[in-house]
Amino acid sequence: MSVPSTGLEVHLAAVPSALPGPEHFRLAEVPVPRPSAGQLLVRNRQFLVFAGLRTLLSREAKGFPFPPLKPGEPLFGPAFGEVVATGPGGADIPVGTLVTHMLGWREYAVVDAGAVQAVPDGHPDPVALLSTASAAYGALTRLTRLRQGETVLVTGAAGGVGTLAGQVARLLGAGRVVGTTRSPGKVERLRQELGYDAVVVPGPRPLGDQLTEAAPDGYDVIIDNVGGEQLSAALELTRSGARVGVVGALSGQFDPARPGSTSPAVIDTFLLIKRSVSLLGYQTVDHPGVEEEWRQRFTDWLRSGDIVYPYVALSGIERAPGALQELHQGRHFGTLVVNI
Ligand SMILES: NC(=O)c1ccc[n+]([C@@H]2O[C@H](COP(=O)([O-])OP(=O)(O)OC[C@H]3O[C@@H](n4cnc5c(N)ncnc54)[C@H](OP(=O)(O)O)[C@@H]3O)[C@@H](O)[C@H]2O)c1
Repeated sequence: MSVPSTGLEVHLAAVPSALPGPEHFRLAEVPVPRPSAGQLLVRNRQFLVFAGLRTLLSREAKGFPFPPLKPGEPLFGPAFGEVVATGPGGADIPVGTLVTHMLGWREYAVVDAGAVQAVPDGHPDPVALLSTASAAYGALTRLTRLRQGETVLVTGAAGGVGTLAGQVARLLGAGRVVGTTRSPGKVERLRQELGYDAVVVPGPRPLGDQLTEAAPDGYDVIIDNVGGEQLSAALELTRSGARVGVVGALSGQFDPARPGSTSPAVIDTFLLIKRSVSLLGYQTVDHPGVEEEWRQRFTDWLRSGDIVYPYVALSGIERAPGALQELHQGRHFGTLVVNI
């Protein structure tokens, strides 16, 4: 396969002072890099658009697994593509192999051979390998240890994590599964396609009332992708011994008045004591083995048809500069990727 001399990358043009829009990114034409020994040149086919990018744009982001992005630097994140060249001496991964890696947001990426994962032969949908919902799987199996018949609440149910979290909770034995979304237009899809028993849209009615109607006996397990008022309201409705897995913080991440790296919530700590509620944050690095276990189970569930993977693919890298804005506007359902 011939490789052109230049390729397109999405660079950070300016650090946004509020929510990021297309003006904060630019498409840059750059020379296609050459792989050194032990490296691969990958022609990307698809990459993930994810909320965590807002955090990576924040100058105030400290203590996160990746350093903040600076103007002029290319964005990065989960991607899937085809190996089109190897460095001098070749590599164990031959040209033509489909791989996933972390250098998305560009047409061509040079990646260390040890930093890619080959897409298993006959995989039902390689785009599924870009999903970050392993965090919800880890929170359900390692933090909250969901038990048969329990009632689960998933906040941010229409996002990339939430659209899978409710289904996974059910597959792991949940009794009742409730979700939240800001978008009334997504409620029916969450119920009909993904099996949520009830879906709550915050405002104008009090959130606590709506969450109570959705699960009158309260919640045993909460997978929280949003934080803020939703977390506060959900904690009020926990049952004795409830476990809360804090996976994300969309309300702070996409708050125009905040830097994207903080997400405050008011919590009645007496409730935690009185009801023996545990509140635990999820980080992938703390749970080695979850990623691989999730990949296998997710693939099996896709093959058996037990799980649906909703995603939207924007056509062309030209759509990428506006993609993060589309994400926080809630324009799409499920995981958002860009097709190159
Ligand atoms: N701990 C980990 O290892 C880990 C791994 C993966 C992801 N995460 C985090 O988990 C969270 C969810 O990720 P995701 O991939 O599901 O999100 P996503 O698909 O990247 O985000 C899209 C969703 O964000 C929602 N949204 C935007 N602004 C919001 C706000 N102010 N309040 C509530 N919802 C808002 C939209 O909601 P509507 O559709 O309802 O309008 C949309 O569905 C993020 O905070 C992400 O950073 C953590």
